[in-house]
Amino acid sequence: MTINKDTIILGIESSCDETSAAILRGGILLSNVIANQSVHENYGGVVPELASRAHQQNIIPVVDTAIRRAGIDKSEISCVAFTRGPGLMGSLLVGTSFAKSFAMTLGIPLVEVNHMQAHILAHFIRKEGEEDKKDPAFPFLCLTVSGGHTQLVLVQSPSKMKIVGETLDDAAGEAFDKSAKLLGLPYPGGPLVDQHAAKGNPLRFSFSQPQIANYDYSFSGLKTNILYFLKEQTRLNPDFIAQNTDDLCASIQYTIIEILLKKFKKAALDFGVQDLAIAGGVSANSGLRTALIGLGKKQGWNIHIPPFEYCTDNAAMIAMAGAFRHAGGLFAGQDVAPLARMPW
Ligand code: KG4
Ligand code: ZN
Repeated sequence: MTINKDTIILGIESSCDETSAAILRGGILLSNVIANQSVHENYGGVVPELASRAHQQNIIPVVDTAIRRAGIDKSEISCVAFTRGPGLMGSLLVGTSFAKSFAMTLGIPLVEVNHMQAHILAHFIRKEGEEDKKDPAFPFLCLTVSGGHTQLVLVQSPSKMKIVGETLDDAAGEAFDKSAKLLGLPYPGGPLVDQHAAKGNPLRFSFSQPQIANYDYSFSGLKTNILYFLKEQTRLNPDFIAQNTDDLCASIQYTIIEILLKKFKKAALDFGVQDLAIAGGVSANSGLRTALIGLGKKQGWNIHIPPFEYCTDNAAMIAMAGAFRHAGGLFAGQDVAPLARMPW
């Protein structure tokens, strides 16, 4: 699947609480604009109705800025790629409706993108001057860890991917965010756990690890374990959390990484792959990045870690996934509707 060097894709992402637009020309990223929504901070999680309204406010200025920063005119855009799902229905509707009307007005084709597949394809994004960057070699195994999903994916090509394992309950990002909440940290707690963990002792406290078959994951037991542990400790010492935040974060992060890498390693050995990648919001976690690099060195595997800007939700990855679909002639019609749960 060759991406034409003149093809210009406008990517649009609106699945959760980031409104983002990006311009990609011939697989080279020209701009990537992301508007975060601070409106959710007071609620301890994303409020879907507020997210949709913020997307409506943001979408036009975000797209306009992406086009201007790319230094192109909108008449040069070849195709619009948008996140069809999975995600929050109200949020997806804003991006999908905008993409459809934009494409219709300009008389250009549309391609739909699966948000989780786009996280994986973010590994193929290049900026000007990064032409020599090493792509993951097919087939590779990708651990996709976000706020809503935890998946082990065998990637045979940009269009042929198979989920070989996934979480049976909470996602890895939820495990971070819910643990952070128990420690009194604000939402989203993942990045804060990461910061505290850097100063703490990962072996100070030990938490339970699940025994799940195959390549699947489970994080709900860990959350319950942490909850009861903290209840008992704060009964003995009401200041326990405040006095041990760094060590608690380091130990919780260590446990989540152990759980993630155990199955990742098992799958890599069983499938005989040489290239391993991580993707999604939790792939920004410094402990996970360091531990995976260490595992790669030990096993002789090529490890692919996305730049921070492509870990959390962004439209650059949607444009990249869209460029592959455009090259494959996989267009969507004007009757396409978003899907909160999108089949693979
Ligand atoms: O992929 P993403 O931006 O959105 C979803 O599609 O869910 O992932 C967001 C998740 C949140 O749970 C957030 O806490 C987590 O990624 N996250 C992190 C870090 N940065 C983001 N978790 C741990 N350490 C980080 N540095
Ligand atoms: Zn995501």
